[in-house]
Amino acid sequence: MNAMSGDLDALRDRVRAGRSAFWANPDYLPAEDAEARQDLDQALKDWTMLAPLLARVFPELEASGGRIGSELIPVPEGAFGPLPGRILIKGDHALPVAGSIKARGGIFEVFMCAVHQARTAGLLAPGEPVTRLAEARDFFARRTIAVGSTGNLGLSVGIAARALGYRCTVHMSHDAKPWKVERLRRLGVEVVLHTADYTAAVAAARDATAHDPEGYFVDDESSELLFRGYSAAAAELADQLDALGIAIGPDKPLCLYLPCGIGGAPGGIAYGARAVFGAAAHGFFVEPQQSASALCQMAFDAPSVHELGLSNRTEADGMAVATLSPLVPARMRQRLAGVCTVGDADMLRWVAKGAAQGQRFEPSATAGFAGPLHLMTSAAGKAFQARHMPGVAPEDITHIVWATGGRFVPDAAHTAFLDSAAILPEPFDLPQEITP
Ligand SMILES: Cc1ncc(COP(=O)(O)O)c(C=O)c1O
Repeated sequence: MNAMSGDLDALRDRVRAGRSAFWANPDYLPAEDAEARQDLDQALKDWTMLAPLLARVFPELEASGGRIGSELIPVPEGAFGPLPGRILIKGDHALPVAGSIKARGGIFEVFMCAVHQARTAGLLAPGEPVTRLAEARDFFARRTIAVGSTGNLGLSVGIAARALGYRCTVHMSHDAKPWKVERLRRLGVEVVLHTADYTAAVAAARDATAHDPEGYFVDDESSELLFRGYSAAAAELADQLDALGIAIGPDKPLCLYLPCGIGGAPGGIAYGARAVFGAAAHGFFVEPQQSASALCQMAFDAPSVHELGLSNRTEADGMAVATLSPLVPARMRQRLAGVCTVGDADMLRWVAKGAAQGQRFEPSATAGFAGPLHLMTSAAGKAFQARHMPGVAPEDITHIVWATGGRFVPDAAHTAFLDSAAILPEPFDLPQEITP
């Protein structure tokens, strides 16, 4: 059921019918990656440079010395339904400061922008500690940061920008949850609500900033800085696996399942994982059935999900994106292992399973749980294993489900997710939808 078996038409039919799908990238080349390694080293250097300033500006980062990181959580067997193999959750749903994976990108870009602007204006001399910028609110107050968002990128950029004293405008798509809007407004961020989708919100933000000489636009459709910020997460993961005594190598591969909207966050992390683990790491994107922008672009060359008759309507607001970032095909054509999709009902079921384990997820955060099921039980997944992990025993594969957001979801909104999950029939849809 994928390009390797030459059955792209059947896959297209499946996607059009709103069923879950797994696509193995026929151009994928697992390899050591010197270019990615060089970029990752730069990302790590930049985060290290920013850390003292982050610790100064955000009291919750003081204890970690300005490090924004998350836990790696082993999944008790059966806790998230019938998942095959050794599964760990990378807990970015609980990341400090911004409460989602977007902390790794949005905060990085705003702070890198601040350092650059301060250096260019002569406010920060070369070699001078960046902590000085914690007291430069007058300088930043004359400047605006703008961004388009489905919610979480706006939150991370807004929180970062206001913490330094910037003015900030966030253009929100119609999918944005009201509590995200309110939280930003309380911080003094100007929120412009659009009745259109994410792509339109980004275009509006870009246009508005083009007319502002003191404006800086965080461009989720082409930002190298966002991508670089996310990539550093792979080095953190490597340290955590090491600490748990989990070896990764040619006979012990690592599979990452990364929720995907426009592709920046999952692309950056998959790119970083290649830098760290080389050919032993396989990065998969996971998308809502109706917002499968990466699948449409990468598998079918379709610039928008609407071309395949998909609605781009999903409860997973963080992934309600119709068009993939152009950065992703450019960077990931040979680096992305594959893409799979999942229905909203299963994401809600995993939100409820998470709550039972004491974890607060939003629906977008849980898409990754679909990954191991697709890879280990579908015909296309088994073909992928035969091609890229020949001879590897299933128990030697480490699966990382990247959970991406939820910490700030208010009680009422979280309860509403649980109520929606409670009226769903008990079994998960995905295992039945997958054709073995
Ligand atoms: C919770 C959550 N997960 C995943 C994503 C996907 O990230 P990206 O749009 O960079 O692909 C987002 C994006 O906002 C998100 O908010």
